[in-house]
Amino acid sequence: MSIPQEFIQELKSRTDIADIISGYVSLKKTGRNYMGLCPFHGEKTPSFSVSPEQGFFHCFGCGEGGDVITFIKKIENLDYVEAIRFLAQKAGLSVPEDGQSKGLGDLKKRIYEANREAARFFYKKLYSPEGREALGYLKKRQLTDKTITHFGLGYSPGSRFELVNHLKKLGFTNQELFQANLANETKNGNPIDRFSDRVMFPIIDLRGNVIGFGGRIMSDIKPKYLNTSDTPVFNKSRNLFALRFAKQKANGQLILVEGYMDVIALHQAGFENAVATLGTALTQEQAAIIKRYCDEVVICYDSDEAGQKATQRAISILRPTGLNIRIVKVPDGKDPDEFIKAHGEQGPARFRLLLEKSGNDVEYRFGRLRSKYNTDIPDERIAYLTEAAKLIATLENSIERDYYISKLSREQDISKDAISGQVGKYLRSNKKQTDIRQQKEAMLELSAARNNINKEKRGKLRAATAEEALLAIIMTEPDTAASLFKELSPDLFATSFNKRLYQILKSRSDSGYDFTITDISGELSDEEMKGAAEILAEAHKVGDPLEAAREYIGILRDEAQKLTPDQISMASDEELMRELARIKKKKQQ
Ligand code: UTP
Ligand code: MN
Repeated sequence: MSIPQEFIQELKSRTDIADIISGYVSLKKTGRNYMGLCPFHGEKTPSFSVSPEQGFFHCFGCGEGGDVITFIKKIENLDYVEAIRFLAQKAGLSVPEDGQSKGLGDLKKRIYEANREAARFFYKKLYSPEGREALGYLKKRQLTDKTITHFGLGYSPGSRFELVNHLKKLGFTNQELFQANLANETKNGNPIDRFSDRVMFPIIDLRGNVIGFGGRIMSDIKPKYLNTSDTPVFNKSRNLFALRFAKQKANGQLILVEGYMDVIALHQAGFENAVATLGTALTQEQAAIIKRYCDEVVICYDSDEAGQKATQRAISILRPTGLNIRIVKVPDGKDPDEFIKAHGEQGPARFRLLLEKSGNDVEYRFGRLRSKYNTDIPDERIAYLTEAAKLIATLENSIERDYYISKLSREQDISKDAISGQVGKYLRSNKKQTDIRQQKEAMLELSAARNNINKEKRGKLRAATAEEALLAIIMTEPDTAASLFKELSPDLFATSFNKRLYQILKSRSDSGYDFTITDISGELSDEEMKGAAEILAEAHKVGDPLEAAREYIGILRDEAQKLTPDQISMASDEELMRELARIKKKKQQ
């Protein structure tokens, strides 16, 4: 690692994890820790905990966890060195440079640079003779030069080597072009342009880095849009198109649309709070991001059946975040871009009206439901009422439930009591199911999160549990740790993840460095940091740590002597006799 340890120590002493995290999550103090809503998965009841004393966070819901550096890496989408810089700036420190911060940080930097050069190249091509058709296409779609420049749109020529040659001249290697996904590799290992004869939409993150592209073909050839695949700097499920502009204009509300062109048309029409996903369905991570920048989201997807299905899905992902949700249904089977164009000068005003009379998600779901039944037919009417009661029972707020019960009662001329009775029944059965489901999910998530990191734990539960208790003591009780390092050999560890963690802690101590969770984040992967944070989060307070530690070491010794099932079947008679004698002796003690 190129950043001096002394600097990280200094940074750590000036950085309070609860303070940093409270810039993103509203935290409430509970005892020695803080709790809040996890920013990494949508949830309504807090399962995200932060321990300022021990310097870690851990979500009991999704298993996410780590130290303050891991947190910043994840939430700001930065690598290790970038996260250190970010925190240093907040703490008013400047990072000592040694001019050779190699590794992933460097590759990412090169990819950002290659992307930026590519975006510049595409933009120039759009306004060159080669780009005439593409520029004409965008003009036909009524984009102004100002909009084109604002979004940095461009054109990728059809030759399949122009961008590659241009970037190679600027010093980028083949490998960098492949890694940035700007070039595909031919059978001979040569790079050719990934984007050919397409209108280019750069995708730019919150800090202004070009992280990828979408490229639209100008004919009917499929695929209509070709997007950058995930690269070290680009993750489709963690970014939103135009969020950089939209967050500034959000003012409490974001408009979520399906397509790049919808976003651009809306921004041009004055709705600069529009964002879109990047060619995939909305993810929980994107919902958490949206929640960070507004309290209300207006879903405005295509009005075709696919768009309506996607709307239902988006509602179910956004609901758990507690965001206010409204739905705009664009009339006449159009998407927002087509709607605005279709109404010419009046387009923006009419879209504003659509926004203003947009219903909330409950109304939207009622509307969808209502349209499926012909309530003049008694059977269908009963089916409708039943489904509507089920829908009302999914609402958490009792005032909201009462409002829709009244509404339904008036609309269908059925007594409020009858509907309430039915809703109450569903409510009770929902609650039972949710309780069971939540318990199951919590158990599954916990064990899944842990099993991913320490896969051997399942088979070696007793040893792994003792190992984790020991590691927790080491990370929180430096004085006890010092004597443990002397007597506890890494070879006594039965699971390799825990062993590795122990070795790292021990070697830091041997070199005279601190060894709390924050001190080791440079040497562990994010996944491993999650494991370390979970070990701390699950640890119980022990009376005398040294005494407890000796007991755990005893368990490890005991487990180490046991023969594994494989060994038992391979063992000689003599070895088996010895093992049996050992067990017998132990029982007598
Ligand atoms: P649409 O098909 O609705 O396209 O796809 P659009 O945005 O309205 O584009 P125009 O108006 O026809 O030019 C919505 C989004 O789905 C993704 C893109 O992100 C697109 O903006 N998509 C669509 C792809 O990634 N690949 C495709 O082949 C099609
Ligand atoms: Mn469209």
